[in-house]
Amino acid sequence: STTATQDQDGVLNIGGVPVTEIAERYGTPAYVFDEADFRMRCTTYREAFHDFDIYYASKAFLTRTSARIAKETGLSLDVCTEGELAYAKAVDFPPERVLMHGNNKSEAELAAALEYGVGRIVVDSREELDRLEALLPSFPNSRPGVLLRVTVGVRADTHAHIATAHEDQKFGFSLVSGEAEEAVRRVVDNGLLELRGLHSHIGSQILTTQGFEAAAKRLVGLRAKLAEDGIDLPELDLGGGFGIAYTSEDQPTPAAEMADILRTAVAKECAQLGVSVPRLAIEPGRAIAGPSGATLYRVGTVKHREGIRTFVAVDGGMSDNVRTALYAATYTVQLAGRVSDAAPTLVRVVGKHCDAGDVVVRDDHLPADVRAGDLIAVPGTGAYCRSLAHNYNQIPRPPVIAVLEGRAREIVRRETVADLMGLDVG
Ligand code: LLP
Repeated sequence: STTATQDQDGVLNIGGVPVTEIAERYGTPAYVFDEADFRMRCTTYREAFHDFDIYYASKAFLTRTSARIAKETGLSLDVCTEGELAYAKAVDFPPERVLMHGNNKSEAELAAALEYGVGRIVVDSREELDRLEALLPSFPNSRPGVLLRVTVGVRADTHAHIATAHEDQKFGFSLVSGEAEEAVRRVVDNGLLELRGLHSHIGSQILTTQGFEAAAKRLVGLRAKLAEDGIDLPELDLGGGFGIAYTSEDQPTPAAEMADILRTAVAKECAQLGVSVPRLAIEPGRAIAGPSGATLYRVGTVKHREGIRTFVAVDGGMSDNVRTALYAATYTVQLAGRVSDAAPTLVRVVGKHCDAGDVVVRDDHLPADVRAGDLIAVPGTGAYCRSLAHNYNQIPRPPVIAVLEGRAREIVRRETVADLMGLDVG
């Protein structure tokens, strides 16, 4: 994060708080959330995409605090379950600035969204159109704008698990098969829902821009086709997916540049096809939350495997960061509690789970004298680490410690074994 510094004793400070102090007060492992960094990124997106609606994709990192900051900085909120919607309610997020996603929303979830009066619902299937139309009469005061999620047939340049716009995956109405067009016509013919536009989300952690441009073009193409029949779709939501730098090899496109690219691609295609320019929206999650988080661990064991590498085992693992195992994600690690002038050695940071795939950082370097008791930090864990955390081996999930201007506070408490046992009522 932007406020991270290392003092002369080698102690990492985040938000003006030494991580040694965090470890002492709250224990390890712990997620450290840099509030100023998160707020700064919300503002950066707000400014770069000033002419867009910006929905913070709350799935990336959702706490009351992050939802509140998104609200205060003028962002809107993307939620995709009743659980995520509960956070919007908890911080009084203006309902009209909440958008509901999900590829298999239940009737209860749709009802909850209508009850709260969300501004947009992104519909992903025919069955959902049926459910939504059937529910509307029970909520006469709720008239959400509807967007249809379109599978644009673009293969995003990212890991297969997080590419979401080619045909062979579960999201959206297919463009190439004509399903998307048919869905639009069906909604228009029924006349029950207020159709505002189209939506596409091509995937996540995408560092190139071609996929976004291709998706935008295809959506404008569909819009133009529908416009010929007098169907006007004033909005176009291009989803999220903007990649961040996990290592120095990743070169993300700055927000302002991305805004320009999207704006230009849409405007150009609209001009070419002779249609009006729609109101644009994006849904960044990782690009806002990712850099603002770091995970703090305590080293427990160190095994030097001669000629191979050194395995550094920490007090957490794949339960607090499953991304390395799930998406072959790359992270870096640093010694965070002391100085060392030992030479760097190749390490693999592993956890304490019963699984050889329990790797937090696949390949990076730590001083060769790394030893039990050392504090280490893994930066860039703000997005999808806490969100994807689980309890394999009955390991309680770490707390989230927010740091700001030299002060630390626990915003999500550490889970306990008693919390986990409490769910077992057998
Ligand atoms: N909009 C929609 C409809 C989405 O499905 C997502 C993410 C976003 C926006 C935000 O995408 P972002 O800007 O954060 O890339 N668990 C995976 C990421 C899954 C992303 C799911 N959808 C990971 O840890 O990499």
